[in-house]
Amino acid sequence: MKRRDFLKSGAAGLTAAGLSPWLAGCSGPAGRHDFPAAESIASLGGQLDPVSCEMLYLASLAPSGHNTQPWQVRIERPDRWFLELAPQRQLSVVDPARREALLSAGAFLENLADAGRHHGRPVELAGADSENGLAILFVGSSEARPANLEAIANRRTLRGPFAPRRIRRADVAEFLRDTRDTEYFPPDSRESGWLDEATVEALAAQCRRLPVMEELSEWIHWSDDAARQHRKGLTPAAMGINGFTGWWARHFLESEDVLSQSFAEATIRQTKEEIGSSGGWIVVSGAGDSSEGLLSAGRQCERLWLKARALDVAIHPMSQALEETPWRTEVGTRLGLDAPPQFLLRVGYAAQYPPPVSLRLPLSAFVTISSGSDV
Ligand SMILES: Cc1cc2nc3c(=O)[nH]c(=O)nc-3n(C[C@H](O)[C@H](O)[C@H](O)COP(=O)(O)O)c2cc1C
Repeated sequence: MKRRDFLKSGAAGLTAAGLSPWLAGCSGPAGRHDFPAAESIASLGGQLDPVSCEMLYLASLAPSGHNTQPWQVRIERPDRWFLELAPQRQLSVVDPARREALLSAGAFLENLADAGRHHGRPVELAGADSENGLAILFVGSSEARPANLEAIANRRTLRGPFAPRRIRRADVAEFLRDTRDTEYFPPDSRESGWLDEATVEALAAQCRRLPVMEELSEWIHWSDDAARQHRKGLTPAAMGINGFTGWWARHFLESEDVLSQSFAEATIRQTKEEIGSSGGWIVVSGAGDSSEGLLSAGRQCERLWLKARALDVAIHPMSQALEETPWRTEVGTRLGLDAPPQFLLRVGYAAQYPPPVSLRLPLSAFVTISSGSDV
């Protein structure tokens, strides 16, 4: 069987045939466990105090489109940091305006602020950095106020399957508490139905666009070696490809396979299955497309995601309908939103909520310390 056809046929039968336990005995997939916090922090060689290092490590556990980790931090003084976008970690095809990069940086900032508050190092936005279009941060000092750092460490994207039932009323109320511009659409609502269809159609349109698939292929690291070397992008385990299929993908798939027709077909089929089994959608909107507005929407989404983690509600962002026309221009009106939608989150109760597996860069890859900064 050609490896491309393998994806088409799927390996569910082999998994069902009982090969999974045997495979579990083989060396496991690359994952977060390969790179503990201490290793990431040690990469800075002791140039920065331990609390700042822990804040930056926890911040880096934020979600990002294709796991690009598009942020970087320049530390000018202990109390004056710059949050910037890393030019080499952007998605120029699906995210040319850097909307998703800014949302991701917002999620990073939210984790940073939570961790800072926990350690008595409050992080405030001290202004916009006109040169880089992002934020100047003031990192102060105050009484420590506990934050849920466990939720930051355990948050992850889960792609399903989810129980096909509504999110409990009490959980929805908790999600929407203290949030602006966030709406829940239950699975049987008209809006959810539209989002389901629009997502599959927009995904199919993306699968027909070669540059989109080429960009995706650059950000998927199939083999364990490549995953451990890059520590960013998507891996089979992070995409939920486990068991025999995951083992096979890690050993035999290559970048060029992402460009094949059978990969596109498998992706569309998989997405339809995911969408067919979910607890509806949460849509996070934001105050326009300014850097400030997008950072703020990213922060809001991360706050919600951390609450979801604590409630065992799984979240799967599906951005296709916001990346492709005509769906992008229709979403707001179809859903009756007042502000532009920024995150389309498929949500649901998952049978299991395993620990996070997506990889992260070490601190030395995204933190620079200005010489003479006395940190
Ligand atoms: C702005 C943004 C857009 C995203 N879009 C998608 C998406 O369209 N499909 C998807 O499966 N995951 C999407 N994700 C989830 C990322 O792939 C995920 O955060 C990343 O791989 C890191 O994994 P983790 O969230 O488990 O830490 C998105 C995340 C962000 C922040």
